[in-house]
Amino acid sequence: MRISPKVLALIVPKSKILMKIAISGKGGVGKTILASLLARTFAEADYSVLAIDADPNSNLAATLGFPHPEEITPISEMSALIEERTGAPPGQAGGFFKLNPRVDDLPEKYWREYNGVKLMVMGRIKKGGSGCYCPENALLQALISHLLLERDEVVILDMEAGVEHLGRATARAVDKLIVVVEPGRRSVETAYRIDKLAREIGLHNIAIVANKVRSQSDRKFLTSSLPDFKFLGFIPYDQAIVNADLANRPVLNASKQVINEVRNIYNALLPTASAVNQKLKIK
Ligand SMILES: Nc1ncnc2c1ncn2[C@@H]1O[C@H](COP(=O)(O)OP(=O)(O)OP(=O)(O)O)[C@@H](O)[C@H]1O
Ligand SMILES: [Mg+2]
Repeated sequence: MRISPKVLALIVPKSKILMKIAISGKGGVGKTILASLLARTFAEADYSVLAIDADPNSNLAATLGFPHPEEITPISEMSALIEERTGAPPGQAGGFFKLNPRVDDLPEKYWREYNGVKLMVMGRIKKGGSGCYCPENALLQALISHLLLERDEVVILDMEAGVEHLGRATARAVDKLIVVVEPGRRSVETAYRIDKLAREIGLHNIAIVANKVRSQSDRKFLTSSLPDFKFLGFIPYDQAIVNADLANRPVLNASKQVINEVRNIYNALLPTASAVNQKLKIK
């Protein structure tokens, strides 16, 4: 059953709305900026929002305007915690460690809050296919699963170009995987690759957000290159975002057109609440 955002707001307290949004896309397309602007939009509408930086080159904290973002230690670098929870120090592949460490107390301990948005920085997950399973990976995977499956927050996951952080079980908890694209062939190719990987792990709720759109022909290029995808919105190219980046300022003073379009995307996401309803068992 689909339900309008207005009705939803009347029947479910916002503190109880669970919505899990993952954001992926080619490098540099604007994932972090979209994650920040969406997090702010949800926070301004009084939702409890937890933003997760799951990109190894973390910069979500800075983009959200957190003071001293460089002082935030990513979870993957908390060696003592990794050893305490998994029973083995980081980097020890192949040894004995807990695959399912306890993590439910970690969000409250390690999130930082600024301007109504809570943030956790995950840090670098070692790759190497499913073969590389080290203690820090076990902890991060358990933590991301916990955040997606068991938290009563709007969770916004800023990921790199892939769905590596999501396992099958976790993928099912994602209400929407947003793939950000920009006018350009490479970001379109990446979108197809992400779509394929996502479907392989059972994640089918995929939608596109176009960013850095300068013209009607940019828009046409993207919609005709991705004809089978649902577009949640088209964010214009914005000099204010570029200027904020150059001046090392948070991106939250983007132009009105950008803010409005992010609000449209937010409104388009709320009906994803049909999945939310099922979780809350609202009929
Ligand atoms: N709508 C926009 N208009 C103009 N510039 C933009 C826009 N969106 C993003 N940018 C610029 O593009 C760059 C990349 O943005 P962002 O860091 O959000 O991308 P990303 O996909 O998270 O990158 P990465 O893959 O490195 O994590 C930044 O320099 C930002 O200022
Ligand atoms: Mg980023």
